[in-house]
Formats: sequence, C-alpha cells, structure tokens
Amino acid sequence: MSMSFSLRPAAQADGTFLADMVVEAANWRQGGAKPRHEVIAGSDYRRYVAGWKRPGDGGFVAVDHGSVPIGAAWYRVLARDEAGFGFVGVGVPELIIGVRPIWRAHGVGRALLQALCRDAREHGHGRISLSVERDNFARTLYRSEGFAIVRRDIGRDTMVKVLR
Ligand SMILES: CC(C)(COP(=O)(O)OP(=O)(O)OC[C@H]1O[C@@H](n2cnc3c(N)ncnc32)[C@H](O)[C@@H]1OP(=O)(O)O)[C@@H](O)C(=O)NCCC(=O)NCCS
Repeated sequence: MSMSFSLRPAAQADGTFLADMVVEAANWRQGGAKPRHEVIAGSDYRRYVAGWKRPGDGGFVAVDHGSVPIGAAWYRVLARDEAGFGFVGVGVPELIIGVRPIWRAHGVGRALLQALCRDAREHGHGRISLSVERDNFARTLYRSEGFAIVRRDIGRDTMVKVLR
C-alpha cells in the first residue's frame, strides 16, 4: 500500500465521512466499540456533524492516492446552548479529528491539524479549542502543535491553541 496522501477542503458531501471520523474519535481506545448509530444519535457527538456544512464550519479531508478519504479534521463554532466538551467561549471554534486506524502514525493527523489551524486563523479566529481524554496519546500531538491545557475535568482536558 502506498502511504502517500493529500489534503482537500471538506465539502458539503463529506458529512457522512465526518460522522465516521466522529465514531473513530469516540472509539479511540483500543477495542472501543460504541456502535455508529449510538454515537451519531447521542447528543455528545451529534453537535459536531449535524447539518454539515453550516456557515462558519471549516475542515479538511485527507485522501489516499486513489482519492479515498482516510481522515478528517474540522471545526465548528458552537453556540453556548450546544456547547461541546471543549467549549471555551462564544465564537471560539472547537475542532474534531479522526484518522482511519490503518493510516494512523503516518503524519496524516499532524498535516490535518496544521491545515485546519491555518484555515481558522485565515478566517479571523484568534483561538481554537479541543477536548481530549487524559490517557489519549493524541495529547502529545496537540501539545507539539502548540495546544495548552486550559481546563481539567474528570478524565479529560480542554486544550486551546492561540492562532498567531
Ligand atoms: C489522534 C489521531 C487523529 C492522530 O492522527 P495520526 O495520523 O495518527 O497522527 P500523526 O501520524 O500525525 O502523529 C503525530 C504524533 O502523534 C503521536 N503518535 C502517533 N501515533 C502514536 C501512537 N501509536 N502512540 C503514541 N503516539 C503516537 C506522536 O507524537 C506523533 O508525533 P511524530 O510526528 O513525532 O511521530 C489519530 O491517531 C486518531 O484518529 N486516533 C483515534 C481518534 C482520536 O483519538 N481522535 C482524537 C480525539 S480527541
């Protein structure tokens, strides 16, 4: 298998794939097996994909050499009454990221994160936030990309990157 990939902006038609990546994020733990329909229907995760793509949403899809989607990262500005795990303030976008299991640890996640943060900055955002469980190695990736912990909850942290 060729390990080359490229990124493209996420389009309206990518909603189903983004939902798949929400399921990956919800099941990040080895052997995690929350059924797709439960994750998508649950209020914890639905807010990240419902009605994609809305004004103000931004995202990228990573595709393999055959244009098959292998990962995605996107952000949404959520209202206070639909606040996600990583809500830090009105108007601050929250990001979600997921990569297909066989494609992990090949640089796809870092490339997606960098493209997304650049895009958010270009759209005038001064900060971007996320929420990550405390034992998820993704924290190392986020820290190395300039995210810092701003809030500690039970088992999970909220991280923010200042976009300058
Ligand atoms: C988290 C995730 C998006 C990262 O994407 P990825 O393509 O695997 O990440 P990258 O290959 O760009 O790796 C970036 C860094 O992550 C870390 N990393 C990657 N795979 C790792 C692994 N298996 N174990 C420990 N650290 C790892 C390394 O620090 C790596 O840094 P390096 O570039 O110096 O090697 C992806 O692994 C994933 O989808 N995981 C499951 C869903 C999830 O946890 N989503 C986030 C919820 S907050």
